Amino acid sequence: MKIAVLLSGSGSNLQAFIDKQHEGVLNAEIVLALSNNPDAYGLKRADAAGIPTWAQDHRRYSCREKFDQAMLAVIKKSEAELIVLAGYMRLLSTPFIKEFEGRIMNIHPSLLPAFPGAKAVAAAADYGVKLSGCTVHFVEEQLDSGPVIIQAAVPVPVAEDPKLTLERIHRLEHRIYPQAVQWLVEGRLKLEGRQVILTESSQPKVFARPDYDLNSQWLVFPPLEQGF
Ligand code: GRF
Repeated sequence: MKIAVLLSGSGSNLQAFIDKQHEGVLNAEIVLALSNNPDAYGLKRADAAGIPTWAQDHRRYSCREKFDQAMLAVIKKSEAELIVLAGYMRLLSTPFIKEFEGRIMNIHPSLLPAFPGAKAVAAAADYGVKLSGCTVHFVEEQLDSGPVIIQAAVPVPVAEDPKLTLERIHRLEHRIYPQAVQWLVEGRLKLEGRQVILTESSQPKVFARPDYDLNSQWLVFPPLEQGF
């Protein structure tokens, strides 16, 4: 399956896709990396991996729709079948979402629907939650909403520096996001209303073991398979 990745920043999730592809557990080809921030470090990661890039400052366009139209044109040329939002810090316009309905995924650093929007990790810590985490979901028009594919939870020790919680969440993001895409590639994600159902694999699956040291204790549902 051909995928296009949209990003605005560091691109560590893009890197996770590249790595999982190289490890042979993600059977997808990243055909394009796009950004609204020409200085995004993620573009350098794409270059290093030989992935074609497209980057334009969105402020040079008169409106969101025009910018999204420009992205759509290059995405269509690339023949990407799935759009992966990996730290893409802009809302997508309705026509863009309609064009790729059911074929856009996003990752967010909270257990949605709690704490949508920017600075989710700090907001969760300020609220005093005991569990935080990350969510991969299909994209709907509202910010950080849509049917949930996979979630990972991590503990939030009292008074922990949110930077440490974020690191712990990132390590899991880099596992659950490629896993979610691989399930889609295998044709195992069925949408029934708001429920995303993971169907059985035709191959026997071995599950990954959780790492139980204090810094990476986690719970993922549905469970990750070996290699993720
Ligand atoms: C991640 O925390 C993701 O959940 C959020 O943006 C961040 C992107 O990080 N949507 P990176 O650019 O992939 O390193």
